[in-house]
Amino acid sequence: MTDDIYDPTYVAALFDRCSLRYQRWSAVSSFGFVWLWRRQCVDRLRGQSQIARIQNGQVTKHANKSPQVVDLMAGTGEIWPHIFDAFPRAQITAIDISAAVHKKAVTRLQQTRSRQVAHLNANALETDLPATSTDMVVATFGLKTFNADQQTVLARQIARILHSPRGRLLFLDRDV
Ligand SMILES: C[S@@+](CC[C@H](N)C(=O)[O-])C[C@H]1O[C@@H](n2cnc3c(N)ncnc32)[C@H](O)[C@@H]1O
Repeated sequence: MTDDIYDPTYVAALFDRCSLRYQRWSAVSSFGFVWLWRRQCVDRLRGQSQIARIQNGQVTKHANKSPQVVDLMAGTGEIWPHIFDAFPRAQITAIDISAAVHKKAVTRLQQTRSRQVAHLNANALETDLPATSTDMVVATFGLKTFNADQQTVLARQIARILHSPRGRLLFLDRDV
């Protein structure tokens, strides 16, 4: 197996092995703040959506009451409860490269909200989601799995799928 930590095969195998421990480590090492950080980010998205409704000094009606949300490097959907609190009718397409994470997410989805979330086992750098199809792209704690060149590819993908001018983007990450 390759030792290149940015090789998608290596990353997928890594998260196949340790995704459950990662979630626990993430909660413990952040003293539980990880929940709050996700919450605060989605609150900002909600705020931006409200501001986007103001045009020529008037509050327009909601552009889209069932926003299309793409969750990149989604894990098992830790951010979804916050998205549904803010946008109860959101439709989420979630992407994760790890087959084990994907399996766990699908099992979890069978218990709730399965009609509002599609979880795909795929590489976020190679998505073939339709152009301009997305109201919001979110990515929490997934950016550090990419090197600079891959981040450029990801940025192009996001620019391609986001609707303009309605599209909103949320990245959340941490150094450790
Ligand atoms: C640190 S976890 C974050 C999970 C979740 N978003 C959260 O908030 O906790 C990073 C996730 O990104 C996934 N991942 C890494 N590289 C990926 C890629 N190229 N395409 C899709 N998913 C990827 C991993 O399998 C892992 O589940």
